[in-house]
Amino acid sequence: MKINTFEEYKAAYKKSVETPELFWAEVAENFTWQKKWDRVLDWDFEEPNTKWFLNAKFNITENAIDRHLPEKANKTAFIWEPNAVEANQRVITYQNLHDEVCKVANTLKLLGVKKGDRVCIYMPMIPETVFAMLACARIGAVHSVVFAGFSSSALAGRIQDSDCKVVLTTDGAYRGVKDIPIKAVVDEAIETCSSVEKVLVYKHTNTAITINKAKDVIWQEVVPNASSTCEPELMDSEDVLFILYTSGSTGKPKGVVHTCGGYMVYTTYTFNNVFQIDTTKDSKDLFWCTADVGWITGHSYIAYGPLLAGASSVIFEGVPTFPDAGRFWKVIDKHQVTHFYTAPTAIRALEAAGSGFVTPYKLDSLKVIGSVGEPINEEAWHWYNNNIGKGKCPLVDTWWQTETGGILISALAGVTPTKPSFATLPLPGIQPLLVDDKGNEIFGNNVEGNLCIKFPWPSIIRTTYGDHKRCKEAYFSTYKGLYFTGDGCRRDENGFYRITGRVDDVMNVSGHRIGTAEVESAINMHADVVESAVVAYPHDIKGQGIYAYIIAPSTTKNHDNLRKEILAEVTKIIGPIAKPDKIQIVSGLPKTRSGKIMRRILRKVAEGELTSLGDTSTLLDPSVVDEIIAGRL
Ligand code: WT7
Repeated sequence: MKINTFEEYKAAYKKSVETPELFWAEVAENFTWQKKWDRVLDWDFEEPNTKWFLNAKFNITENAIDRHLPEKANKTAFIWEPNAVEANQRVITYQNLHDEVCKVANTLKLLGVKKGDRVCIYMPMIPETVFAMLACARIGAVHSVVFAGFSSSALAGRIQDSDCKVVLTTDGAYRGVKDIPIKAVVDEAIETCSSVEKVLVYKHTNTAITINKAKDVIWQEVVPNASSTCEPELMDSEDVLFILYTSGSTGKPKGVVHTCGGYMVYTTYTFNNVFQIDTTKDSKDLFWCTADVGWITGHSYIAYGPLLAGASSVIFEGVPTFPDAGRFWKVIDKHQVTHFYTAPTAIRALEAAGSGFVTPYKLDSLKVIGSVGEPINEEAWHWYNNNIGKGKCPLVDTWWQTETGGILISALAGVTPTKPSFATLPLPGIQPLLVDDKGNEIFGNNVEGNLCIKFPWPSIIRTTYGDHKRCKEAYFSTYKGLYFTGDGCRRDENGFYRITGRVDDVMNVSGHRIGTAEVESAINMHADVVESAVVAYPHDIKGQGIYAYIIAPSTTKNHDNLRKEILAEVTKIIGPIAKPDKIQIVSGLPKTRSGKIMRRILRKVAEGELTSLGDTSTLLDPSVVDEIIAGRL
């Protein structure tokens, strides 16, 4: 299933389009199934209804762990690099991984978790977090990992939406110089979550915690005593593997649902082909994806993809700038990382810190470097390519989404061509197309439009948890018969794709996906705020920054204090990642006569594009635009 040459890529792509079922059935043959599928694919983008490998039975952890044991029991599955430079690293072999996952799985059973139950994981970047995910998968429970930077109220909303029965967490977390309370956030969250019966707490920082005798169980008191064997639950290909909440253009975050079979096949296939890692027993190849497991990148390319492929990888607890902006490069040299996968925002921040943080390190172990999460600008692409890849490592710019489960458009390292700031070509099985606003396909090259996909791939979103209609409306209704990505895209003269950014009301701040509506509703919780409108604007480091316009006519506070309170409100409702960078206090917002906010104008002002505001004559009160321009931050 590994593609080795550009010719092989072309042949695989052709086959995947002409005979997709045959193509994916051959890929799926490489896994351990207790029972093979009756049919490869059943699909309908109207409903939508997508099923892959119908009626196949297996367990994903048997494929990610057990099947490697005969050969690779002593191979490193993970090297854990702690936040503090002087703290001890941990090495987890595939045998260790097996034992730990089984112990946690048996503990979950003891806590009453059964197949199909939802389990929330709110934990920092430690190996136990991955054990927890795999333990759920082992017993057929559905994990819902929530990024440990989200606030208690954001956590509560996610726990409630899927009625999680158990929450797995830690006492605290280290992030750079900070020692962050984690359990306290869970305590506050579950006050409003009646579904939660037990909280399993891994003691990591030894921060003081409050114990609720009825619910709390300390990990170290039960997990080590549990048996290290646990028969994998037999799962159907279309049983739910996990839920992961992500932001859309409207309303509260939606629970993206991925199922077992297709997700396993696609994450493994893409991991192997995009990164081209040698996963043989004695290979020294070492993969490092710097994402947090709280995001899809961490799910697919820390927890599942590398393990399913039998690779070795790094889990890093800390942040790129602690103790200084050379930490990533130090870790690469220390562990001899060969394949490094990070986000453009980190690259830009580390570039801005100065080359003095890079030059002390050799970085000569690197073979492949990758980018994910947001468009990578040419400047950052070249800096990354020259200073980190030293001009000799293929740079793969991987485009995909929470909803796609795995990478859809990317170069295959060293196999297919790269081009600065272009994700380049679709992976086998992916049939992208560009459409205009009316949904007409834009043919040919050197064109730009909205990016859609016309045929299912194995790890496509199945539904949004508890609300299938929302899934249909968000992804399958804008353009009939197509999956709409929400991204704008250009196809160059050679047919290479360049993703230009979201065309909906979704922002991408430091690679974090945040809905404008979510931030607005958090801001509106402040008693003095009557109305608000949030837009994104270009930001040198973060890619996009958050610009909030607020109306607070009766506030008695001075504006700086009001701004501080609003930032605190957003931190409380969502988390610090959603804090606006700029808050402009205005007396009105540009609205149409029907009362719709003209965001286009607000975006232009935030971007500083003051000469191209377009037609403002249809506004209810065109004079507010002058005021907004005059008060621009
Ligand atoms: C959105 C999805 C993919 C996992 C991490 C983010 C943007 C992602 C790229 C890229 C340009 C990219 C898109 C996409 N995006 N990767 N290589 N080039 N844009 O997952 O939180 O679901 O966000 O991130 O706008 O729609 P996510």
